[in-house]
Amino acid sequence: MSEYIHGSHPEEQKRLSLLNELINGRCLELINLTKGDRVIDIGSGLGQFTLAMADRVGEDGFCLGIERDPEQIKVAEVNKMKNTERLPVEFRIGDVSDLNLKNEELESFEVGHARFILEHLSNPKLALNELVKAIKPGGRIVLEDDDHAGFILFPEPPGFSILWNAYMRSYDCLGNDPFIGRRLVALLHEAGLRSIRNDLIFFGDCAGSPTFTSYVENLIGVIRTAYPTMIEHNLITAEAFKESIGQLKNGLRFRMLRYGIKSAGQKELKSNQNLSPTRGQSVPGLKINIT
Ligand SMILES: C[S@@+](CC[C@H](N)C(=O)[O-])C[C@H]1O[C@@H](n2cnc3c(N)ncnc32)[C@H](O)[C@@H]1O
Repeated sequence: MSEYIHGSHPEEQKRLSLLNELINGRCLELINLTKGDRVIDIGSGLGQFTLAMADRVGEDGFCLGIERDPEQIKVAEVNKMKNTERLPVEFRIGDVSDLNLKNEELESFEVGHARFILEHLSNPKLALNELVKAIKPGGRIVLEDDDHAGFILFPEPPGFSILWNAYMRSYDCLGNDPFIGRRLVALLHEAGLRSIRNDLIFFGDCAGSPTFTSYVENLIGVIRTAYPTMIEHNLITAEAFKESIGQLKNGLRFRMLRYGIKSAGQKELKSNQNLSPTRGQSVPGLKINIT
């Protein structure tokens, strides 16, 4: 079973919630949901993004969030209760590698979505195959995930590259892939999907911006949760870790932080169909134009 490095400690849940506040708007723009869509969101965490999608698909749509950790589901249920419009949303305990959907739910969703989950799986293909089974013929899958090699701080604080390398190696130690972002298109292709598109969501900020501290907090938060793995596998010394985190806390020493969430969306085809759009046409349901 894949191990999730960040866990669900209240401090970590605070970080994840903050991350949602920072990027949900940009991610929603990309997904381009339609009123009435049925959406399945795997590894749904605290459910904030699932609920944001529910808001977009409206009362005639439906969002199903699947999450393995009961602590995350508890918070998702609380978040759901705050949603006064009582939009059709369900959170369900489950493992993304075997969604265990009811028969009538198979091939019933217009959109399958996975954000920041494939990077935490030792076999992401299993999860993707489950999503393929869930969506209707002609439905879409949207994957959003990190490629940690693309992370940049400028000017880089002393010791940061050692710390960041140790963080990335901690994924390897669990059998997970810190560079999953670059594989999303290949994964979709291998799962038999076509009309695949690739995009990048800007995830960054600079000193002076009101949200810069939040981005720095998120960065420190993700690295902190990997500390036990880093130490257990001798990826960094406790002293070097403490020193580099101290440098990060003084975020104003670096002026710019930049990342990108790789995103690949596609429209599913039956194997004998050829719906590839011609150049210049937009893909139905996808915002991105093919040029
Ligand atoms: C980084 S969080 C992302 C949550 C949400 N997708 C978001 O973008 O806010 C990853 C979530 O996946 C959950 N998770 C990890 N492995 C899982 C698995 N095998 N099955 C279901 N959920 C899993 C974790 O508990 C965590 O809540």
